[in-house]
Amino acid sequence: MIEVEQLAKSYGFAQALKGVSFTVQKGEVVGFLGPNGAGKSTTMKILTGYLLPTSGRASVAGHDVVADSVAARRCIGYLPETTPLYGEMRVDEYLRFCAEIRGIPADRQPGAIGRAVERCALQRVLGKNIIELSKGYKQRVGLAQAIVHEPPVLVLDEPTSGLDPNQIVEVRSLIEQLGKERTVILSTHYLQEVEKSCTRVIIVDRGRIVADGTQAQVTAAHGGSALRLRVRGPAEAVREQLQQMLPPSAPLTAEGGGDGVTTWRLGLPAASAAFPAVVAEQICRHGWQLLELAVERASLEDIFRQLTGRKAQEAVHA
Ligand SMILES: Nc1ncnc2c1ncn2[C@@H]1O[C@H](COP(=O)(O)OP(=O)(O)O)[C@@H](O)[C@H]1O
Ligand SMILES: [Mg+2]
Repeated sequence: MIEVEQLAKSYGFAQALKGVSFTVQKGEVVGFLGPNGAGKSTTMKILTGYLLPTSGRASVAGHDVVADSVAARRCIGYLPETTPLYGEMRVDEYLRFCAEIRGIPADRQPGAIGRAVERCALQRVLGKNIIELSKGYKQRVGLAQAIVHEPPVLVLDEPTSGLDPNQIVEVRSLIEQLGKERTVILSTHYLQEVEKSCTRVIIVDRGRIVADGTQAQVTAAHGGSALRLRVRGPAEAVREQLQQMLPPSAPLTAEGGGDGVTTWRLGLPAASAAFPAVVAEQICRHGWQLLELAVERASLEDIFRQLTGRKAQEAVHA
């Protein structure tokens, strides 16, 4: 549904995108993550035809976003970072205006607007001026505007930023509904949002993609995971046994708990799903007591910080 190839964008001397490539299949809900200034909005503006790339290409539903911009835009609903709402307009007037500029024929406008209003639960506020609405309702009007022409692709730039926790839950569940029959790419700073609602994660940093895959793939590739075990037994002998089973470079830490009990944490070899069972077997074979055994996966937040975090000094010059 979305194809992006070596997309680059410079604003004057500043290179905001340095060769970004990814594809999104039909039905995917992709979380686009990255620190401020990473290039998320720039990518989305190019996809939606609001900016021209400096080089590279992108297409939506097979339509090139530059050469075939009108056809590409017809397939996209876009919620920009700052929603282009006209405060003095009433909600119903605004949606009619959006349907009009989307080229929906007059006889089909009431039906199209009615569906968008229903999906976004705007019935109660149709007669209000947009300026009077809460931020949560404004965001729902923005989403209604994005779906009024029934596009197969939604591009949502930080749809939940600035909302209170209740509004976040409402807008998030609305996006989940909309994502059931559409391809969605959404940028966000809320990592739980991605963990809950997205089928895939793309992490960008300083104009480049630094991770791309399902959450499990990204975790495996960048975070790894660890095996934690509590063992009652002679610590030195246990260490020797654990070291024998691990590659030489794998991390292994021990924390004494008294009463002959030690908590061990070891890097889990990526390839071996059976590794925890093998470890358990060896511990038991020596007659030591295995009190606890757990696989700990790196969270998306750990990985995000690892891939995009940088020291304060470096950040100043980035
Ligand atoms: N209109 C602009 N003019 C100059 N620089 C810009 C402009 N828009 C964005 N940038 C710069 O491009 C980089 C990427 O910005 P942006 O795509 O908005 O990042 P994000 O949405 O990930 O926070 C930033 O360094 C930002 O300062
Ligand atoms: Mg942005």
